[in-house]
Amino acid sequence: MKITAQAFVEMKGEKSIAMLTAYTCPVARSLEQAGIPILLVGDTVGMVEMGFDSTRHVTIEHMEYHVGAVRRGAPDTHVIGDLPYMTDSHPEIALASARRLMAAGADSVKLEGPKLDVIAELTRHGIPVIGHTGLTPQTAKSFARVGRTDADAQRIKDEALAIQNAGAFMLVLEHIPYDLARQITAMLEIPVIGIGAGPDCDGQVLVINDALGLGDYWPPFSKQYAHVTKTVLEVAKDFAKEVESREFPNNIIQLTGSGH
Ligand code: KIV
Repeated sequence: MKITAQAFVEMKGEKSIAMLTAYTCPVARSLEQAGIPILLVGDTVGMVEMGFDSTRHVTIEHMEYHVGAVRRGAPDTHVIGDLPYMTDSHPEIALASARRLMAAGADSVKLEGPKLDVIAELTRHGIPVIGHTGLTPQTAKSFARVGRTDADAQRIKDEALAIQNAGAFMLVLEHIPYDLARQITAMLEIPVIGIGAGPDCDGQVLVINDALGLGDYWPPFSKQYAHVTKTVLEVAKDFAKEVESREFPNNIIQLTGSGH
């Protein structure tokens, strides 16, 4: 059954939340079958699926397409639509963008940075919002860990509290020192989902391609539960060999019939 924003808030301190990104229908279907309670259609799709060098190239049309695919694969799971770069630059623009993602099938939206007036406007219109601070890839100059100086750590703490107070029901904390993530998790009343933020958050999120080992680079804080890139390579080589030797489709015709 689909879990609401309020129910996620009530899980804080009770149950660790497992979030995965999803971009396609068949993967979303498997994640729902596995019981993953919340799927993020992240703008990481631009880098891990579309081959861009930055999430900044992702458009609202791209996100509508992927949110729709994930919704069709996981009709009973909470789906977050990520607002891409500049589609949340002003409360009115953000409201129109968020409505497009909700119409495509999202249950909530996520946005990067302390855009407090945007968060307040979306929640005022009944759109549940997830904040995101720490490393924010849409505007970051590099993917290095942030919050390592006292001043930067304080900035992130202040942003986290302000995002909660503006109305967000959940916060993603990306690539910050573990002790800072622990302090922010203890300070907030909403669940904090970490990525590269250590073990003390209220839940963890992984990019599905990183978890699957699909791609050619995975961040050091991610874990590869499988090595799908290797499987694709092996399947493609086996297929080519069998076509060249005419083994395929002969080796399946005995199962599927003679073609008459
Ligand atoms: O876009 C995304 O997938 C994200 C996660 C890395 C949290 O923001």
